[in-house]
Amino acid sequence: MKMILKKGVLIVIEGIDGAGKSTQAEILLDRLKAKGYEVAYFQEPSESKWGREIKKRALFPDSLSPDEELDLFLKDRRENVERNLKPALKEGKIVILDRYYYSTIAYQGAKGIDKEMIRKANEEFVVKPDLVFVLDIDAKRGLERIQDRKNKDKLFEREDYLVKVRKIFRNFKGENIVHIDALKPRDEISEEIEESILKYLHTFETNGVRLS
Ligand code: TYD
Repeated sequence: MKMILKKGVLIVIEGIDGAGKSTQAEILLDRLKAKGYEVAYFQEPSESKWGREIKKRALFPDSLSPDEELDLFLKDRRENVERNLKPALKEGKIVILDRYYYSTIAYQGAKGIDKEMIRKANEEFVVKPDLVFVLDIDAKRGLERIQDRKNKDKLFEREDYLVKVRKIFRNFKGENIVHIDALKPRDEISEEIEESILKYLHTFETNGVRLS
């Protein structure tokens, strides 16, 4: 059975490095597809030229000032919103997005940029998400999970930084924000995420959005 939503739904997965975002996104994608939903998946930084620039620069820590970082993430996001998110949402898809502007508030905010300023700069052009899942893990354990992916020499410096980033993530509040303990078993987390989404889609449905 195919489920067609009248209006697209934007689901964001957030958290510090090693929280398990990509794993959860993958599981979610499969489950929603199996239920007949049309699903799309995107990541930030994206595949755009700005996203590639960010990834290239990320190999050299502190090669950019916090303001330059912010500028690049905003440029990348503008492109992702216009090129990827809006078209997929217009087609009524459920869009799963791995990182969004909450990452900018947390990561660039942890470098000293005013968090409200970052939020406002983003909210001028982003599509507001329907649901945001924040996977919470302490910096040390997050880093342990991705140890082989990261430069070990930078570990301590990074841990310090990620402690601040995590703190900002934990402070996000709002009716569309769901905080999840990322140390729980993988399947428990994916069930919890799926349940929240299905519940959300149901209220959506009873609010007049047709599923056929
Ligand atoms: P990501 O691609 O999720 O990391 P990985 O290298 O593990 O695949 O993101 C790259 C880094 O970019 C990550 O450490 C978080 C950071 N980031 C920001 O600092 N600000 C932002 O706005 C975004 C989207 C990511």
